[in-house]
Amino acid sequence: MRAHYTISLGSKICRLRLRDLYSSLVHIIHHHEFSIMHFTFTTAGESHGRALIGTIEGLPAGLPISLDFINHELWRRQQGYGRGGRMKIETDQVQILTGVRHGETLGGPIALMVENRDAGNWGEVMSVTKPAVPLERDRKVIRPRPGHADLVGGMKYDRRDLRDILERASARETTMRVAVGAMAKQLLAEFGIGLASHVIQLGEIKSAASDAGFEQIRALYDDDVLRCLDKAAEAAMIARIDKAGIEDGDTLGGIFEIVAAGCPAGLGSHTSWSSKLDGQLAQAVMSIHAVKAVELGEGVANVALPGSQVHDEITYDAAARTFGRSSNRAGGLEGGMTNGAELRVRGYLKPIATLRKRLKSVHIETKEVLEADFERSDVTAVPAAGVIGEAMVAIVLAQAMREKFGGDSLREMRRNFEGYQQQVLEY
Ligand SMILES: Cc1cc2nc3c(=O)[nH]c(=O)nc-3n(C[C@H](O)[C@H](O)[C@H](O)COP(=O)(O)O)c2cc1C
Repeated sequence: MRAHYTISLGSKICRLRLRDLYSSLVHIIHHHEFSIMHFTFTTAGESHGRALIGTIEGLPAGLPISLDFINHELWRRQQGYGRGGRMKIETDQVQILTGVRHGETLGGPIALMVENRDAGNWGEVMSVTKPAVPLERDRKVIRPRPGHADLVGGMKYDRRDLRDILERASARETTMRVAVGAMAKQLLAEFGIGLASHVIQLGEIKSAASDAGFEQIRALYDDDVLRCLDKAAEAAMIARIDKAGIEDGDTLGGIFEIVAAGCPAGLGSHTSWSSKLDGQLAQAVMSIHAVKAVELGEGVANVALPGSQVHDEITYDAAARTFGRSSNRAGGLEGGMTNGAELRVRGYLKPIATLRKRLKSVHIETKEVLEADFERSDVTAVPAAGVIGEAMVAIVLAQAMREKFGGDSLREMRRNFEGYQQQVLEY
């Protein structure tokens, strides 16, 4: 006789065999972990296609959403000295297609769209259907650019026009990440968490204000030049960009820093590799185009110092009943969890790969050595990368907040958050 197990699923009572019980539990755990609590997003779209699309799941119902705020974030991404001609053509504007009504989220999937204003000039080249006759100007890319996805992407996806690769590899995709990040920032703001970023190095020129606090950095939020606090360094950076771009036909990299203030202690977890917030932040920031290293706090400088000069001593404020730190060299993270101090994440950007001073490449058909293709391009994009970094850090923090405090509505999430705050006060 086969054993049956009786379980209740909400209002339903089910009799299941052991094998079916097992698969039902896997389904429930999967659904619980990946659909309900998780804030997830996907982007779609090509650089010169019709539009960029983003879909978001996992925001609570009742979150106030401002279109103006999202558009302002998109504007910030388009600023910065050293950007190429495209930023002048496009003024990005988001459209929310689903999931928001009368200024508040409904709790279901949200679809966002940013149209490419430049798409009109690319209609035939990017057409979904095959052109009836070969195009006069097909804009085919056959000389892969060193430092870009062109060649490897062409080999891997078996494409003979490398435009099929560069259209998706382009950092234009990060427009949608900034729109999604703006949604995440609006959730975080409800819990008193704010983000800002600044440029701390451009080429070889360093800002002397790399240790500035959140409020100072935040005051530069709408700066449209370089978002650098050290104005003497900023002037030198501008001159360096002019020299690279105008005189040398070259490009520059640099370092941006993102600071998040107001994070509660305890986002992320020490208990398994995938739940460590430091790892999640590194992945999120490293996934930004051209970022080649990620640093948390003073992680790089700390390796050369003895432990006594690195670790942040623990303090206690009896009146406020809060633990604190005497310094913040750890960048607000210990054991893969936020510790309540400012979260500080740095992204190191390589110089832009498309150069007017063209590098050597190989024609993918004839195998002839010649100069790489050139596509309209930035001299540097460090300030914009900082805005994208803010978006990615905001997304990771929003994910951690949703995981920890859950809730179908903002009110329910807030109740859970406040309960936890009280529990921490009583520790
Ligand atoms: C905001 C931003 C703008 C960028 N603009 C350009 C550009 O105009 N030209 C270019 O060749 N690369 C640009 N990049 C970098 C490339 O997208 C990136 O180097 C390329 O996709 C290869 O990826 P990888 O550098 O991460 O390996 C930009 C990156 C960012 C973050």
